[in-house]
Amino acid sequence: MSAQLLDGQAIAADLRASIKENVDTILAAGGRPPGLAVVLVGANPASQVYVRNKRKACAEVGFHSVLHELPDSTSQTDLLELIDRLNADPAINGILVQLPLPAHLDEMAVTERILPTKDVDGFHPYNVGRLVLRTPLLRPCTPKGIMTMLARTGRQLEGLDAVVIGQSNIVGRPMALELLAARCTVTICHSRTKDLAEKARNADLLVAAVGRARFVPGDWIKEGAIVIDVGINRGEDGKLVGDVDFAACAERAAWITPVPGGVGPMTIATLLENTLQAAVLHAG
Ligand code: GUN
Repeated sequence: MSAQLLDGQAIAADLRASIKENVDTILAAGGRPPGLAVVLVGANPASQVYVRNKRKACAEVGFHSVLHELPDSTSQTDLLELIDRLNADPAINGILVQLPLPAHLDEMAVTERILPTKDVDGFHPYNVGRLVLRTPLLRPCTPKGIMTMLARTGRQLEGLDAVVIGQSNIVGRPMALELLAARCTVTICHSRTKDLAEKARNADLLVAAVGRARFVPGDWIKEGAIVIDVGINRGEDGKLVGDVDFAACAERAAWITPVPGGVGPMTIATLLENTLQAAVLHAG
């Protein structure tokens, strides 16, 4: 392997340590700990794992965290009422409604009900608009966490050709906006993109967020590129694998994120960072 590893586990641990220091300072000054409310509707097993990890991370940095587990049958009205209560609760700085929601619930209406200053996912249209306009308030966690990792390479991003594979609202689109704000030349690729291999081969910075195991082969990687793997997939052997063929891509890349231990831990640490940011906002 010639690539250097972008170790999300280590960078996330540093970020958590710095957040914990901030919490200690707030508490020492007589303030209240940042508070995160996590809302989980139904029993999606993947969502249950994510939610458990988010709450564990909260405990580690001294946040107040509450979990609202609601049954699959929860009505839209009841869910919106809960959000209204959390919006009004001064002990809660961040509200996270775990997605996807059961099909009978309106995700957009739920997202829009959260106060933009408590929207620690950065999914509210207000926060999306602020990101588009380059005056971000709360930024989506995965792309923001990736920007934190990219800063660790010491590479100047300005002017790089960046290719994002995937156009989801949670990762692909906000990632492209982050990179555009960092003055990269950004190409967003998706399932209808022509000549994907050729576009990938032009990338100085490649972000793969497609959700398909080892979708990106080694020969799509430009020599010396930065490769960011957002995928978390189960391989045929049951092990976690990313969207890129790690061993083959690492032969050519200068920097690469592993799976697991890359982007995943950064997403959660960045959620904590956003919750702290919201708490500072609410205190000011
Ligand atoms: N489901 C998958 N990723 C996310 C995320 O970042 N936030 C929320 N709320 N739900 C998700």
